[in-house]
Amino acid sequence: MKEEVIRYLNPKPCENFVDCTVGEGGHAMAILERNGPSGKVLGVDCDPALIERLKLNIEGTDYANRLNLVCDTFANLNAIVKEHGFNRVSGVLFDLGFSSWHLEESRRGFSFLRDEPLDMRYNPQQNTLTAGAILNYWSAKDIERVLRVYGEERFSRRIAEEIVRSRPLKTTVDLVMAVERATPTWYHRRRIHFATKTFQALRIAVNSELESLEKALPQAVDMMESGGRLVVIAFHSLEDRIVKNFMRNKTKEGTLKFLTKKPVRPSKEEIAKNPRSRSARLRAALKV
Ligand SMILES: C[S@@+](CC[C@H](N)C(=O)[O-])C[C@H]1O[C@@H](n2cnc3c(N)ncnc32)[C@H](O)[C@@H]1O
Repeated sequence: MKEEVIRYLNPKPCENFVDCTVGEGGHAMAILERNGPSGKVLGVDCDPALIERLKLNIEGTDYANRLNLVCDTFANLNAIVKEHGFNRVSGVLFDLGFSSWHLEESRRGFSFLRDEPLDMRYNPQQNTLTAGAILNYWSAKDIERVLRVYGEERFSRRIAEEIVRSRPLKTTVDLVMAVERATPTWYHRRRIHFATKTFQALRIAVNSELESLEKALPQAVDMMESGGRLVVIAFHSLEDRIVKNFMRNKTKEGTLKFLTKKPVRPSKEEIAKNPRSRSARLRAALKV
């Protein structure tokens, strides 16, 4: 949703922005094309492999002088911004979740279509909890709760019990097969893959995704100058609910003003080009 991000962040020459989920740098570079000659972007991502990859990609380009890359979780946003002396922030962007690189190249078990180790960590250097540890060592009750709360999975109990019966689970294929055994056949014939919610739930639990988002949003608003723009793209209803409630409360308080009345969805053309974008919802607000 690059066009929509740029429309709502509305970067102007010499303004500074924080991209809290810089990933492969697509949005950050689009901002840098508009905030020259001296505007900067602080690009944060908790995945060290993605930060290294982006550093190599921008080496020797004009972007390298104006894109400051930091490997950390956005839950530490205030500390990151202070440590890097980054001020006069005109906008903050969150493009939540995982990137295509995680699915296609990381080999960390994010995709139910591949046979990979059950890892799912964005930051394997700092996070010690893996999907495999949850699946092989947690009780059926705790796994059931993860699937129900973070996946809104209607068969959470049956899946959790089958996971415990199938131990040890070694790869994503073991997990997909356990979900298949635990769910009715009609569930396997739907448009959405039957393991989608289980994989989403585990990824959220492994990376404490909702807790990090709840910590980061107030920090993002505090650090912006008045007139600053906050843009958040969520990929499932749990994150979107946190964003919506946060923006709504800040609007009532008089700190933010909505720029989007309803969440903005990707265009049909974008969904056709990138089917994974179909669940994206963008919300934007202005600091009063
Ligand atoms: C959808 S991708 C962002 C793609 C990016 N906008 C681009 O143009 O390439 C989301 C990124 O957020 C990162 N991420 C997820 N949780 C994070 C957190 N708590 N702190 C920092 N980065 C996080 C992931 O590693 C991933 O690279």
